[in-house]
Amino acid sequence: MLQQPEWPDADALAAVRERLGLLPSLIFAGEARALRHQLGEAAEGRAFLLQAGDCAESFHELSVIAIRERLKLLLQMSAVLTYGATLPVIKVGRIAGQFAKPRSSPTEMVNGVELPSFRGHAVHSDEPTLAARTPDPERLVQAYYQAVSSLNLLRAFTKGGFADLTQVHTWNQEFVSTSLEGQRYETIANEIGRALRFMQAIGIDLGDERSIHEVDVWTSHEALLLDYEEPLVRKDSTTGDWYACSCHFLWVGERTRQLDGAHIEFLSGLHNPVGLKVGPAMEPDELVALAEKLNPRREPGRLTLITRLGAGRVRELLPPLLRAMREAEIPVVWVCDPMHANGFVTDSGHKTRRLDDILLELEGFFAAHHEVGTWPGGVHLEITGEDVTECLGGSEAVLEDQLDTRYETLCDPRLNARQSLDLAFRVAELMRG
Ligand code: PEP
Ligand code: CO
Repeated sequence: MLQQPEWPDADALAAVRERLGLLPSLIFAGEARALRHQLGEAAEGRAFLLQAGDCAESFHELSVIAIRERLKLLLQMSAVLTYGATLPVIKVGRIAGQFAKPRSSPTEMVNGVELPSFRGHAVHSDEPTLAARTPDPERLVQAYYQAVSSLNLLRAFTKGGFADLTQVHTWNQEFVSTSLEGQRYETIANEIGRALRFMQAIGIDLGDERSIHEVDVWTSHEALLLDYEEPLVRKDSTTGDWYACSCHFLWVGERTRQLDGAHIEFLSGLHNPVGLKVGPAMEPDELVALAEKLNPRREPGRLTLITRLGAGRVRELLPPLLRAMREAEIPVVWVCDPMHANGFVTDSGHKTRRLDDILLELEGFFAAHHEVGTWPGGVHLEITGEDVTECLGGSEAVLEDQLDTRYETLCDPRLNARQSLDLAFRVAELMRG
């Protein structure tokens, strides 16, 4: 089985799996069905998916502030997209469980020392010592409890008034509001406020409108560690079907998507909506075979294909994939991950991405769908609400010699809040165009 940690103690792992199997599920199967239904709308061109969050969540970032700032940005981006494109936006976080990373190389160099590559806090510590990098199954239980508390707070914020549309101004963070994007956001927030007052003025009772006062923010992460995911699969008592209950939506990554591999087998047995990353090596017939396995009943919303093809290649590689899937008549949500095929390492040794390349891949994604006549159903992004310097560019450009200032990611470089908002405006324009 690919990309699994070498747990040093099989008995300890077995005991952890047993404990996880006895713990309550994090989600209710009915929620996964509701998300599948919403994604069905995106598959058929009536909604848009915004899936975003950290590359790797950290065990050290469980504060109210950390979660609140992530949520704020997601709500802001979603307001920009909804207002700009006048379409429902489905909000899915890479949050409350994104603790495991696949790696291309088993080892990495840290300060001149070769160490086992960092595989996420669900596996080991990121500290650069051999002892700290030894996999510890106890961390799977810790990942569970961390996900529980994140999800609990998310539910409180999204259902308890924080995400109320009348709060649209308060989601603009101070370091964002002074920027060009922040001011553009203020304009939209003002217009949303006016629209709400208009509705009230003509006698619509906004107090009763649940959709104004509450939002659904669904959770997702990569289905990587099967020793974590398998014990959290539960049989839904209302339908008798099997659901992954560690989050609402799981995806399989580019490194573990083999047709006969354990990860695809695992996803194929679930009833949740699921995702598949699609990299530049994917052949059209291979994609159809994978989709056939993951969505044999051809349900809209069951399968999301997350393409990450690269700014320079998306226009050439995406159309044949779109045509092959249309010919196979398997409905899917097409989503663009403009992050993972546009990374590079600077001379100073920082892994980074250019906002311009990210936007270029997004443009190519929309152009390919326009060419073939399919629906560009969403975006999948690595972002953070913090004012980090990990990706290059933006209107208040992060320059190469500034990467060191606040380079905080545990794995891949994320867009900061200003860059993310900038991107949301560009996507809204692409959707309108
Ligand atoms: C990721 O989403 O963080 C990731 C590792 O992506 P991919 O599998 O597409 O490389
Ligand atoms: Co990543």
